[in-house]
Amino acid sequence: MEYKITSKCEMDTIELAQNFESEKFPNMIICLNGELGSGKTLFAKGIADAIGIKEPITSPSFPIIKEYDGELPFYHMDVYRLDGNVDGIGIEEYFTKGGVVVIEWADTIKEILPENRLDIKFQIIDENRRLLTIVPHGKEYEEVCEAVL
Ligand SMILES: Nc1ncnc2c1ncn2[C@@H]1O[C@H](COP(=O)(O)OP(=O)(O)OP(=O)(O)O)[C@@H](O)[C@H]1O
Ligand SMILES: [Mg+2]
Repeated sequence: MEYKITSKCEMDTIELAQNFESEKFPNMIICLNGELGSGKTLFAKGIADAIGIKEPITSPSFPIIKEYDGELPFYHMDVYRLDGNVDGIGIEEYFTKGGVVVIEWADTIKEILPENRLDIKFQIIDENRRLLTIVPHGKEYEEVCEAVL
């Protein structure tokens, strides 16, 4: 199953993220892919916002994982700089800590991603529009998509 959604402005992307957050459950894994400036961090901000996190969300390039306290813990990762070198970092630990996990450039660490997860690919159409391709893997994520999309 695959959903295609066109975001027409920043607010569309933020609202979409907030809608996903409302269906959140512990250990929800959201994997974001897509070119530079396509909206991955903005989507992460929407999630954080709706979890009740007041701190500003900045792109976690170093360290690559940032933790925030909200209704659930929020783990925001940007694994771009790892270049696929995941050994010894302990990224997998975050998949079962009971929080919500958002991973930018998730495809670069595909081999350690859980089978059950939500994949979202961002493509730039023009200055303000983004095409989002959303693919749920596993029953619980399919249910989330049915509820939100
Ligand atoms: N519909 C839209 N959805 C998301 N972002 C948009 C949209 N329209 C314009 N933008 C702009 O695109 C940029 C997206 O930046 P963002 O940091 O979220 O991208 P990113 O995918 O995380 O990039 P990077 O790969 O560098 O981490 C912002 O400047 C935002 O204002
Ligand atoms: Mg980013």
